Amino acid sequence: MPESTALRVNGAQVTVTTEPRTSLARVLREQLRLTSVKLACERGECGACTVLIDGAPRMSCITPARLVRRDVVTAEGLGEEAHDLQAAFADHGAFQCGFCTSGQLVHAAAILREELPAGVELEPFVRQRLSGNICRCTGYNGLVDAVCAVAEERR
Ligand code: FES
Ligand code: FES
Repeated sequence: MPESTALRVNGAQVTVTTEPRTSLARVLREQLRLTSVKLACERGECGACTVLIDGAPRMSCITPARLVRRDVVTAEGLGEEAHDLQAAFADHGAFQCGFCTSGQLVHAAAILREELPAGVELEPFVRQRLSGNICRCTGYNGLVDAVCAVAEERR
């Protein structure tokens, strides 16, 4: 049965309509028009639909909207936090077609909020953390270079 579901998205309280299996990604795209959230595999394998839920990167295509009780942030909601990342993506050739870019940006923003664990090198850490965000175009090096450059700048 359809029912009303309250969500907090990009700082705003919203009410959407969900069925039990309606994904958060479908709600964000189709009801809230947050089209930075891309749908590709729709089975949790590519990362195109990555959003932050309470600050943690999550694949919204496999997240039932009714079960979300915390703050959701999409690429549209990153605001100034994403400005240097976006510039670095452009500088380092981190995107081509751009389909994966929103998910990469959101995931990168989450990574950059974290402290680098002691004794861990930045580049392999970033590469490993972004490995769930699939890109068919870039070969990943520009993407990893961009995130590392911002991490170094912010230190
Ligand atoms: S569309 Fe969600 S992981 Fe691929
Ligand atoms: S830039 Fe085309 S899929 Fe990543």
